[in-house]
Amino acid sequence: MADTKIWKAEYAASSHSGAAAALSEERLREAADTLRRGGLVAFPTETVYGLGADARSSDAVAGIFEAKGRPSDNPLIVHIAGKEQLDELTLPRSPLADVLMERFWPGPLTIVLPSKRGALSPLVTAGLPTVAVRMPDHPVALALLKLADCPVAAPSANRSGRPSPTTAEHVLEDLSGKIGGIVDGGATGVGLESTVVELDGVRIVRILRPGGITAEQLQAALPDADIVNEAELREGAAPRSPGMKYAHYAPRGELTLVQGDRALVADAIRSAVGQSRAAGLSTGVLAFAERAARYDADLVLDMGGEDHPEEAAKRLYAALREFDAAGIERIWAEAPTPGGIGDALLNRMAKAAGGRILQLSPSNI
Ligand code: TXA
Ligand code: MG
Repeated sequence: MADTKIWKAEYAASSHSGAAAALSEERLREAADTLRRGGLVAFPTETVYGLGADARSSDAVAGIFEAKGRPSDNPLIVHIAGKEQLDELTLPRSPLADVLMERFWPGPLTIVLPSKRGALSPLVTAGLPTVAVRMPDHPVALALLKLADCPVAAPSANRSGRPSPTTAEHVLEDLSGKIGGIVDGGATGVGLESTVVELDGVRIVRILRPGGITAEQLQAALPDADIVNEAELREGAAPRSPGMKYAHYAPRGELTLVQGDRALVADAIRSAVGQSRAAGLSTGVLAFAERAARYDADLVLDMGGEDHPEEAAKRLYAALREFDAAGIERIWAEAPTPGGIGDALLNRMAKAAGGRILQLSPSNI
């Protein structure tokens, strides 16, 4: 394929209005035209960069799977610029969906809804009778979606299995030459993908993938609903969100997540680093600010303060790519405390570790 184009989209980061459209209208129009002609365009959202294609076109959507090397049984999220677009895509829905849209859209919440036959390429939904939809809270994404004037299927814009991209440079690293272009809107905000929920009648909200909107926020918006974290229940069971069963977000080095009492975690990581170094391996540690200076590895990356897991969420994927760039062979990461955005952080770190989790408590050392 030809070169991947870069469209710079300047906008005021604080603005959630149409400022992006005003400043970069011409370039965004070119990107939107590329989408409308069936091309692939990566664009920033408030979570991570997405790789967009016209969701109605099977040719366009097939291109996403090919560029990413993504298994075809893993359905895509459809991005829209306004709730009114739902009528042509979905069937009547649980009233809980409308409460959640009202409260969290635009924003990092994806809702799985019953889909209308024939409205979208069947490749988008991987044959499921449902479609996952979200309205991103990013001025550039919203402006682009409006100009494209079609539902846009967009998974994260990384090669399958790699950490999701939080900058346009990350997208280039993975997809240069494989896609039509990238709208560069700078670094994304949340840093982890959207929360994916499925609604069961008028009472049950299943979290299929934890993300930018926390279980606590969902509960506060729907005080009478049961919020069920499927991502935790699912070990061993058939995944309801097909994407959750694949290896994800992994750096090239072997990552181990270390969980438990802070002092024990630090001691265990220090001794593991020492052993790997003695064996001639390059070492890395992903640590919270409180302890980062205590590690003597080849590359120590600071996730920010332990009490600010939203900072770690922002930095995680870039950090994983930094370990790769430095050629680090063994990496240890301090696990965050669960709760709030910590749930999504822990979920992604456990996946990046491919299940290598060291659980430390005073009784098992
Ligand atoms: O933040 C995000 O959601 C980013 C940005 C680009 O919007 N997108 C993203 O897409 O993370 P992707 O394709 O990497 O993840 C989609 C997730 C997968 O876990 C997939 O299995 C699930 O959503 N999913 C999609 N359609 C579904 C459906 N009909 N039922 C259940 N899960 C579905
Ligand atoms: Mg992804």
